[in-house]
Amino acid sequence: MEKLTSNFIRNKYLEFFKEKGHTIIPSASLIPENDPTVLFTTAGMHPLVPYLLGEKHPQGTRLVDVQKCLRTADIESIGDATHCTFLEMLGNWSLGDYFKDESIEWSYEFLTSPKWLNIDPKRIYYTVFEGDDVCPKDMISYNKWLELGVSKDHIYFLPKENNWWGPAGETGPCGPDTEIFYDTLKPKCSENCSPACDCGKYVEIWNNVFMEYNKLVDGSLVQLKQKNVDTGMGLERLFSTLLDAKSVYDTELFKNTINKLEELSNKNHTDKQYEKSFRIIADHIRTAVFVLGDERSVVPSNTDQGYVLRRIIRRMIRHLKNIGITENVLPELAIIVINDYCDWYPELKKKQEFIVSELNKEEMTFNRTITQGIREFNKQVEKLTNTTIPGEVAFKLFDTFGFPIEFTTEMAAEKGITVDLEGYKKCYLEHQEKSRKGAEQKFKGGLSDNSVETTRLHTTTHILHECLRKVLGTDVAQNGSNITAERLRFDFSFGRKMTAEELKKVEEMVNEVISSNLDVICEEMSVEEAKEKGAIGLFENKYGERVKVYSIGDFSKEICGGPHVKNTNEIRNFKIQKEEASSAGVRRIKATISK
Ligand code: SER
Repeated sequence: MEKLTSNFIRNKYLEFFKEKGHTIIPSASLIPENDPTVLFTTAGMHPLVPYLLGEKHPQGTRLVDVQKCLRTADIESIGDATHCTFLEMLGNWSLGDYFKDESIEWSYEFLTSPKWLNIDPKRIYYTVFEGDDVCPKDMISYNKWLELGVSKDHIYFLPKENNWWGPAGETGPCGPDTEIFYDTLKPKCSENCSPACDCGKYVEIWNNVFMEYNKLVDGSLVQLKQKNVDTGMGLERLFSTLLDAKSVYDTELFKNTINKLEELSNKNHTDKQYEKSFRIIADHIRTAVFVLGDERSVVPSNTDQGYVLRRIIRRMIRHLKNIGITENVLPELAIIVINDYCDWYPELKKKQEFIVSELNKEEMTFNRTITQGIREFNKQVEKLTNTTIPGEVAFKLFDTFGFPIEFTTEMAAEKGITVDLEGYKKCYLEHQEKSRKGAEQKFKGGLSDNSVETTRLHTTTHILHECLRKVLGTDVAQNGSNITAERLRFDFSFGRKMTAEELKKVEEMVNEVISSNLDVICEEMSVEEAKEKGAIGLFENKYGERVKVYSIGDFSKEICGGPHVKNTNEIRNFKIQKEEASSAGVRRIKATISK
């Protein structure tokens, strides 16, 4: 076999499914478009939700991709052998096309055939849904694995907690799955050790989800119009598995970053005392680079995606200090990641300057907060009437100044005092609970928000975009869009504040277009045709060869996945609520329409 590299795996995977009639589609952005209910693309299925629900995909019914994903739910697990916040998900998709038989057969062939990955079948285990009141025991998958030659003692029936996937939010496509595990050959942790156990003996490498249900707001499951397949195989895990590596961090994907950290810190990444910090830094710098390098710009801030990015960067800086690195090194580390990944993700090279400058700014700022934190610490110590720093104070140092508890404890020890760790933990857990609740709020409504209000505002956004180009010039380009049922938010490139007159003109023009009762038409065409016809939108890295183009009368033509209203007479009373700066060179408009 050729040398095992990450590119080898990505290419083999795409090639295999291309041979099986799939169209290769590029990764969608890490920041979901027009979806205010989730902060990041957490699974390969996110960008495909409308198509899983039945909308026609311009590239057909069999698709394959390598999707960039970000999962902050796993942030506390980072440092173990298998979890990452950013990950690349290899996925093949049937949109109402093939189902369990082909999906299982192809997974088996790809993993075990000498022509493909050539994994020893004896090291592979499988889990299958055991059934419940709504969905029957999955004997089709079970029998299919047997038919392929898998022995019974390699297949486990498990309940919904293990063998069900989705929806990604509260509502949307979901279904039973069959999961594929690799035996690391570690000894069993107990008599009952199985793929359901998280002792690390069995590592999940692939998940084949049979999405045939739609979960509704009331929690009920209804059959979807079409039966879909959504499979997901994390590149990092598969790669380390195939190499029998100790962890995902011991692969080429992180090697250059880890080597650089060893050189800068003069410490060894396998030293138990430092291992977790090394892994956290290697994971977080990669995530930060991909978020900053995304086609939809995000910068560190105190809200939404920007807040997650900030937390990740600051956490990484704390861990840099844990391994003894105190100077600014993030730009240097970022360049290593960019060089490692730019062959597959050219957008990183294009945005290198931006990535480096944002990391540099955030690192400098946080290094200042740490200094303030030390001042606060000294002040608190002077105030003490006994020799224990209260939990709330330690938590404030952590929460406000980003002060790791280890720092606080160490500094306290130097002064011969201690920290109330129990009290700290209590505050920390209370805070976590609050943020967890906050984060859950973000997912309210699920992914499938194709509500009438959102759809109306989506079409209005296209009209607004064209009006801005007419009033301000064709340099105006969409930078971001975020729509809830209440309002639209549109970010666009423009170098200055809009005047009151310009705002009025745009608002009037939008209302005029709306009241012209224009039909909204969707056509499928190649990217070249779309360009020729003067459609605007993101041409690169979008849906691949064939795209959907939505036209609003003769007024606007835009590449877009939909959905949209049928006629502009479904919209009324457009009103701009606010025009403000979003970031350098980018303006933001918030606007509403009548319900
Ligand atoms: N949606 C499933 C997952 O993310 C399979 O792609 O695991």
